[in-house]
Amino acid sequence: MCSTRRLEPHESGLLRKLRLRALQDAPGSFRDTYADLVVRPSSYWEDLTRSVTQPGRNVMFLACEGDQPVGSAFGLVDHAQARTGRVGGMWVDPRWRRQGIGEGLLQEVIRWAGERDFGCLRLWCVADEVASGSLYRKVGFKETGGQQLLSEGSAICVAEMELQL
Ligand SMILES: CC(C)(COP(=O)(O)OP(=O)(O)OC[C@H]1O[C@@H](n2cnc3c(N)ncnc32)[C@H](O)[C@@H]1OP(=O)(O)O)[C@@H](O)C(=O)NCCC(=O)NCCS
Repeated sequence: MCSTRRLEPHESGLLRKLRLRALQDAPGSFRDTYADLVVRPSSYWEDLTRSVTQPGRNVMFLACEGDQPVGSAFGLVDHAQARTGRVGGMWVDPRWRRQGIGEGLLQEVIRWAGERDFGCLRLWCVADEVASGSLYRKVGFKETGGQQLLSEGSAICVAEMELQL
């Protein structure tokens, strides 16, 4: 039975492990790369952990089978746009996919955004990625028409999606 919880302030090692696993597993889904992040010092992971565990900042949700984390997602504050949050880093271990875990994580981010009184949640989705696109559409996200490359020099196109809250 899968449960969800927030990353805790002492868990920078777990954050590093999960993020690197996601980047290795799905390199075409994220702007960050394994090669860039695997060499970052522990101070990078400690800063990132503070940014998702300090009150009023971002948040990281973990999906756990027993005490084993099998997926994660970030809720991010968009400082450039008032009352707007962003979904990032959505990832589920391939052995645990198609069991509702990704949807459960997304619902946690939506709940968090509601508690923050955000008016909408936005995200970038790889344009031809069936799994993530279907997941976001299922919970009500719609394309805004915005498009960009996943990262500079990448051939992968990402489309912006939005959920009004
Ligand atoms: C996208 C991802 C997080 C989905 O996680 P998941 O736990 O398998 O998703 P769920 O089981 O909660 O699926 C919820 C809905 O999403 C859609 N969906 C998920 N995977 C799908 C697939 N492979 N094909 C078609 N639809 C899919 C379905 O609508 C599904 O609802 P249903 O089971 O009632 O049909 C997972 O595939 C993943 O980690 N992919 C690699 C990383 C990635 O692409 N991240 C997104 C970056 S934008």
